[in-house]
Amino acid sequence: MSQTFFITTAIDYTNGAPHIGHAYEKVLADAIARHKRLHGSNVFFLTGVDQHGQKVQQSAQKLGVEPSRFVEDITSRFLSLWEKLDISYDAWAATTEDIHKRCVQGILQRLWDEGKIYKAVQSGHYSVRQEQFLTEKERGPDGNFGEEWGEVVEIQEENYFFKLAEHRDWLLALIDKRSQSGNSMVLPEFRTAELRNAVERISGDLCISRPKSRLTWGIELPFDTEFVTYVWFDALSNYVSFAGYDATPGADLSTFKSRWPALHVIGKDILAPPHGIYWTIMLHALGFADEDIPSFLVHGWWNIAGAKMSKSLGNSVDPSALADHYGSAALRYYLLTDINTGRDADFSTDRLEQRYNAELANSLGNLLNRSLSMAKRYRESRLRRMDSPLAAVAAEKIAAYDSAMASYQVQAAVEHVMEFVTRCNAYVEETAPWKLAKDPTQADKLDEVLYTLAESLRIISILMSPILAKESQAIRAQLQWNGDATLDNTIWGLLPDGHELGCPVPLFPRIESPAT
Ligand code: ME8
Ligand code: MG
Repeated sequence: MSQTFFITTAIDYTNGAPHIGHAYEKVLADAIARHKRLHGSNVFFLTGVDQHGQKVQQSAQKLGVEPSRFVEDITSRFLSLWEKLDISYDAWAATTEDIHKRCVQGILQRLWDEGKIYKAVQSGHYSVRQEQFLTEKERGPDGNFGEEWGEVVEIQEENYFFKLAEHRDWLLALIDKRSQSGNSMVLPEFRTAELRNAVERISGDLCISRPKSRLTWGIELPFDTEFVTYVWFDALSNYVSFAGYDATPGADLSTFKSRWPALHVIGKDILAPPHGIYWTIMLHALGFADEDIPSFLVHGWWNIAGAKMSKSLGNSVDPSALADHYGSAALRYYLLTDINTGRDADFSTDRLEQRYNAELANSLGNLLNRSLSMAKRYRESRLRRMDSPLAAVAAEKIAAYDSAMASYQVQAAVEHVMEFVTRCNAYVEETAPWKLAKDPTQADKLDEVLYTLAESLRIISILMSPILAKESQAIRAQLQWNGDATLDNTIWGLLPDGHELGCPVPLFPRIESPAT
């Protein structure tokens, strides 16, 4: 069975509304998935929602509704946002689904049967908001637990523990081995140190249960129905439960194996410990081989005016409203190009408007419009297939774009495409087709220019398709080229001799912001 490119995003909590960070992560993963499809790869793109846990139970209680009803409402907001933003996921991971529950229970049962889970008494300070026991490390300089932990209570209870600590040295060695072999577990590479340091500090095992007296909104432990499993153990398993995994010894794993291992796209806050430590060790404990431990593409955060987005600050931005106001193309373009993958950035609607107007409306939109208009005016939209001085420039930009995309540096990739767009616009100024059209001895030169522009736009539309799928398709429709958007088809010269272009239709109308 041929290998699939398997990409996932973090599953989003359904205890609050979608925000711009959620939108970014989805759009980033979508661009990567679409780029792999350009290469002809078989892609399995999984995303979804994280529906269980104490916070959801509490929020639902406050509203006086069932948790299932509460998560349904929020889940539908995520679903409609992904539709609006044209996210091309192949499978939807909602953790309340039976297929997921059965898989998680299978995992728990297997680890229990193999003695990798045990029961013990736990006592100490517990953060209700973060759903975790706190240690002395979490105390601030004043000796108190900081505001970020919310209400902290002292509790003592019996719980189940997953043997985490015994795998510390294995994980350290694997992180190092992967880095040395150029196949880093963590991308961008600079975040590896963060994970490594956290692994070195592993001091105990992981509590994976909550007594039902405290939490009922979760997946029951198969070997003790008085407990549900802790939210991370449940959530992380989505990456395998919706990909055909079954922990039962002897299960048929052929579909799963054709997909695995995944590239997990996650934010920097959930690398260590959840993904880099709990998840890698869970997989190892389940018998996954070292080469089947996944990789993590860790993106940075969008801040608002330099500050962290937070519910209490009330500064989070509703991506759905932004998409309605500016269009999904403007939002996708901004989110993918005003941040460097792995770093943080400041979200600003002024920047969104500026970038859109300068790069899409002016630069690319004008190139499309003027190229089709001139072809129509001077040649009744008929092309002659000609050699071009820009063919070599195109080849160079395609290669630069492709290698940036392959290392997930989407902003750099788009920059290469936009440089090519700028080059094309400069070429129009240099060759001045409106002058060539007046001079019959320049007929060949004019045909060269018109062919060059149409062919360049065809290539640009393919390169931009992971970023702006619909608009790229619209460019090809205006060019009346109906070949496939594949990287192979970015080769120069596919518009045939005598090809007829369509009529220009403005594609990226300027955003006019109200005068202030
Ligand atoms: O962490 N900028 O869910 P979540 C960029 N359910 N990304 C951001 C962000 C911001 N300001 N804020 C959050 C969870 N994110 C768990 C994940 S995975 C098995 C379970 C990112 O809704 C965040 O880093 O809090 C995470 O990757 C994703 O949004 C979902 O965050
Ligand atoms: Mg979070």
